[in-house]
Amino acid sequence: MRMDTDYASSVSELLTELASYGAERKGGVTRLLYTQTWSQAQAFLADKMMEAGLEVNFDSVGNLFGRLQGVSPEANVILCGSHVDTVRSGGIYDGAYGIAAALIATRFLKETYGTPRRHIEVVSFCEEEGSRFPLAYWGSGNVVGFHNPELAQSLVDSQDISLKQAMEAAGFGKPDQSAPLRGDLHAFIEVHIEQGITLERTGDRIGIVDTIAGQRRYVITVNGETNHAGTTPMNMRRDALAASAEMIHTLEKVAIRVGEPLVATVGSMKILPDIPNVISGSVQFTLDIRHISETLLTGFCDSVISMIQVIADRRQVEVDITTALRSRPTPMDLVLAGRLERICTDSSISYRRMMSGAGHDAQMFGAVCSTAMLFVPSKDGISHSPEEYTEPEDLQLGVALLTELLYELAYEE
Ligand code: HGY
Ligand code: MN
Ligand code: MN
Repeated sequence: MRMDTDYASSVSELLTELASYGAERKGGVTRLLYTQTWSQAQAFLADKMMEAGLEVNFDSVGNLFGRLQGVSPEANVILCGSHVDTVRSGGIYDGAYGIAAALIATRFLKETYGTPRRHIEVVSFCEEEGSRFPLAYWGSGNVVGFHNPELAQSLVDSQDISLKQAMEAAGFGKPDQSAPLRGDLHAFIEVHIEQGITLERTGDRIGIVDTIAGQRRYVITVNGETNHAGTTPMNMRRDALAASAEMIHTLEKVAIRVGEPLVATVGSMKILPDIPNVISGSVQFTLDIRHISETLLTGFCDSVISMIQVIADRRQVEVDITTALRSRPTPMDLVLAGRLERICTDSSISYRRMMSGAGHDAQMFGAVCSTAMLFVPSKDGISHSPEEYTEPEDLQLGVALLTELLYELAYEE
C-alpha cells in the first residue's frame, strides 16, 4: 500500500484530539448539532484541513469541506468523510473516524503526489444521528436535496429550541453562505467502524459494504386517561402506559418471528404525568425499524401500524403516529466495491462483503453518485457507547485502503 503505518498512525492522535470536544467525565462523547462542543469540533477540523493545505469552506447548514483542487476545473469531485455529531454519551469513532481517515488520506496524497486530476473534498457533515432534533442526515441530506428546508422551522429539540434558531445561533442559515445542494459529485467514499460484531467474529480485517439497510423512524403518541392508581378498578382504566407496553412487547415478538436482518427498536419514551400513584394518561415512544429490502420493510411497518391501532381500539386509547424518517435500503456501487476487493486481494488483506444494519451518510449518496463504504472492526461489536473501541492497527489499515482508492479515482482515472 502507498501509505505506511507510521503515517496512518496519526489517525489515533487526531481522534483523541477530536474526542475532547464533547468529552464527558463518566466517559463517552456527546457532540450534538449546533451546540458549543459541535462548533468547537468543526473549528478544530477546519484548522486541521487548513494545516493540510486544503481550501476550507462551510455551507449554510454547517457542513465543513476541505478541498484539494484538481488539475481539470470541470472535473467532478471525489467527496470523502462522515459526520461530526454523536449520539448522547457515544464513542469517539462513530463518524469521527471517517472524517479523520479522509483528512489524513487527502493530506498524504497532496504531500506525496501533488495536484490530482479530479478534485478531492474532505467533508465533516454537520449531523447524521438525529440525537438532538427528530430527523437524521441533516448534513448529507441537505447536500443531496433529501430534506425540505422548511423542516428547520418546525422541528424542535427537548428544550423547545427550533432547528432554525439553533442553526442561526451557531452562525449558519445565512443567505450569503453557500447553499448545501451539490451537483458536482463524481463519487462519495465513507470509512466507518462496523458498529457490529461480524468482522470480529469472522476475523476479517475489512468490511466492504454491499447494501445499507433502509430505516423507518416513527413517533407514537398514546393518549388514555389519567386517573388515581388506588381507586380506579383495572377494568375501568384507559392506561396509556399499559397500552404502550403491550404494543412494544408485541412489536418485539413479531420482529423476532420475522427474523434477521429485520430489527425493530423502541429507544426513547416519555410518560405523563410520570408519577408512581397516577395511571398514565399519555405516553410518547419512538420506533426505529430497519431492513435491506424495501418491500419487506414497508410490509412489516404497515403490519406494525395496524397492530398498534388494534391494541389502541381494544384498550379505548387514542394513538397518533408520525413518520420522522424514511430512508431507503441503498446498494453501494458495484464497481467501487470491486476496486476495494481487488486492492484488498492485491495487498493480502482479509475482507468480506457485507450489509450495514447501521444507517450512514453514504446512503444519502447512493442515488446521486458512485458510492462506496468500508468498515473496520468494532471491539465486541459495541457502538453508540463509551465502550466503543477499534484497534489502532485496524484504524490505520482503513486509512491506507481509503488512500489507495482515492489515488485511483483522483490521480489515475
Ligand atoms: O442509527 C444509525 O444507524 C446510525 O448510527 N446513525
Ligand atoms: Mn455513524
Ligand atoms: Mn451512529
